[in-house]
Amino acid sequence: MTALLDCINKKSNTNCIWLMRQAGRYLPEFRNIRSKNTDFIKLCLDEDLSSEITVQPLKRFDIDAAIIFSDILLVPYALGQSVKFKKDFGPLLGDIDFPKISKIGESEFSEKLKPVYNAIKKTKDKVELKDKDLIGFVGAPWTILIYMLNKKSPKNEDIGSNLKDIKFIDDLLKIIIKFLKIHIENQISNGATIIQIFDSWVGLLDEKDYDKFVYRPTRNLVNFVKSKNIPVICFPKGINNYKNYVSAVKPDVISIDYDADPKEISETIDVTVQGGLNPNFLIGSKKDLQTNVIKYLDAFKNKPYIFNLGHGVLPNTDPSMVDYLVKLVKDYS
Ligand code: CP3
Repeated sequence: MTALLDCINKKSNTNCIWLMRQAGRYLPEFRNIRSKNTDFIKLCLDEDLSSEITVQPLKRFDIDAAIIFSDILLVPYALGQSVKFKKDFGPLLGDIDFPKISKIGESEFSEKLKPVYNAIKKTKDKVELKDKDLIGFVGAPWTILIYMLNKKSPKNEDIGSNLKDIKFIDDLLKIIIKFLKIHIENQISNGATIIQIFDSWVGLLDEKDYDKFVYRPTRNLVNFVKSKNIPVICFPKGINNYKNYVSAVKPDVISIDYDADPKEISETIDVTVQGGLNPNFLIGSKKDLQTNVIKYLDAFKNKPYIFNLGHGVLPNTDPSMVDYLVKLVKDYS
């Protein structure tokens, strides 16, 4: 069995660790490839390069899993919405052509994302992946919906105006869920051993809207992943109550953000927990990093726990700090 799965199944004696955005701009070898590939979507759809980027962090650090180098916004892209990444701004999406989106078939969608699936297949065969998990992922329905409607990273004030047309939103959400399932299925059938669902924008919603936009749609995907006998990790960043989320969505693993209190989570949640550490500690002193890493490891000492961050590695992180972090986690007992 592979390392992360051992942790989830409570069979591991050592601590497991991987990091969100472990492949990315803080690594010079990524920046080198990125500088020659200015179109980010095209880079994600280059199966050789995306497979190479996926294993870059495994060549440096003693981490237990790879996450396929891709992006959650490839799903809107494959549904025919234009997606661009503007430097120092983030994603910029085009208008939704609803009649066109509602006619897209499964094979057309899968064909557009074929390089992602080929990259997964290629990565699985690499020596760096021996005895390691390969994590596939999707954005949660809510996060994909809000990107598609808002066409750039949303802020609080963007929500109300975007969600007015109830029938349109319901129809779009159904289409999003349908294709997220297809994307999950394709990643699993090509070799992903775990699926993570990123819900980056839960924090924008009022609790009264959780059931409609977060709990029910995500539960639908979670059930789908479980039906394939693959573990599913959910990361509802900014949720107000992790316990309620776990009861409603029933993931195998709950990934927590840096606002969650590890001690309280450890005492109240009965599934495997992942993450939590503020990525800012990777750009501070080694001493502060150590103190805070130990805070998480102590809190989860007697629980199944996967070490990770409370959000992605920041671009200005020194890779040597990541190395130090991995060693702290592996040497803890
Ligand atoms: O290493 C990994 O974690 C795997 C690859 C991965 C990327 N994006 C690569 C990426 C994963 C899992 C994602 C998920 C993702 N993408 C999320 C959910 C997690 C989160 O951050 O909340 C979201 C919201 C996106 C959408 C997205 N993609 C944004 C907002 C941006 C621009 C801001 C940023 O962080 O640069 C991206 C671009 C992106 N996705 C980069 C990478 C490595 C940076 C690309 C670059 O400019 O070089």
